[in-house]
Amino acid sequence: MEKKDSSSSFTIGSSAQERRWPYVADCYVIPSSNRPSLTPETANVPVIDFSRLRQDATRRANVIKEIGNACHQVGFFQIVNHGICQSLLDGALSVASDFFKLPTEEKVKFMSTDVKKPVRYGTSLKDGVLDRLQFWRVFLKHYAHPLSDWIHLWPKNPPHYRENMGEYCKEVRNIAMELMGAINESLGLDPSYLSKQMEDGMQVMAVNCYPPCPNPELALGLPPHSDYTCLTIILQNSAGLEVIDKREGKWKLIPDVHGALQVHIGDHLEVLSNGLYKSVVHRAILNSETTRISIASLHSMGMDEKMGSAEELVDDQHPKKYKESSFSDFLDFLCKNDITEGKNFIDTL
Ligand code: SIN
Ligand code: FE2
Repeated sequence: MEKKDSSSSFTIGSSAQERRWPYVADCYVIPSSNRPSLTPETANVPVIDFSRLRQDATRRANVIKEIGNACHQVGFFQIVNHGICQSLLDGALSVASDFFKLPTEEKVKFMSTDVKKPVRYGTSLKDGVLDRLQFWRVFLKHYAHPLSDWIHLWPKNPPHYRENMGEYCKEVRNIAMELMGAINESLGLDPSYLSKQMEDGMQVMAVNCYPPCPNPELALGLPPHSDYTCLTIILQNSAGLEVIDKREGKWKLIPDVHGALQVHIGDHLEVLSNGLYKSVVHRAILNSETTRISIASLHSMGMDEKMGSAEELVDDQHPKKYKESSFSDFLDFLCKNDITEGKNFIDTL
């Protein structure tokens, strides 16, 4: 399969005249052909009323059809009426934001470049490797399932971090499991397909902070990439996530719908569906006014479980398209290739 855009395809380069004072350092400036627009078009993405999945058979069947179309056409949709209360969403965003406001010495306790560490703080702001392109983002990643295995390793500060983030993690995981069932059904599979593996699988939280950038048209918070997951569910405090509109080949901004969650189809679902569904290529853009926070909840099978295409979706007309691979294979690949972000890893046979 053709590799999608990745951070490795960018090189540093721009002239200082393009920037206004205070300007961003060279290491953040992306080539002009890949720069974001300051006035992006808004994406017309499906908004799914999740509560209909829990209603009568006809409503459920209709919403499953909508989910299937969204997975096939865009690889992305928003969900509303998902049942997670607004105060819980706000509580998670607020502790995330407060974590990044802590003094540096508190945050660096979690700093590591080991991509397999269960709790990891990182930044490419100021202290990145200067010979390759840097992204305007600070992040905290941590494992979240089973919660009791990991929560004691999470930051103790801010004081409500574990409580608020923990509650959100549990609720968003339930949504992810329910969605997996619905997506399986939309593919004509049993709703419980791989449910044991998903139940025993991984939930990794990527808590992202994108500070205001003086020249948001020159830099990116995250480069174009697809997620190496089955599903990613994102909660955000403001707009900044862009996806490729496949029909027009253009970047479009995901509208910020208050209380909505953003659902991405990841590479593992592309493999599971034998290419019927495609993982969505996305990136994070910046603004000069406010700090954007996003909390991505990544759901996949266990570290060493290999994902392959469902046998039910493979026949003479639809031969198996992808090599099987596990999350661990993906992380090993990241380590060997010295890439910490943005690599699309799935390969066709
Ligand atoms: C991500 O791709 O993991 C995060 C994107 C975002 O900040 O919305
Ligand atoms: Fe992502």
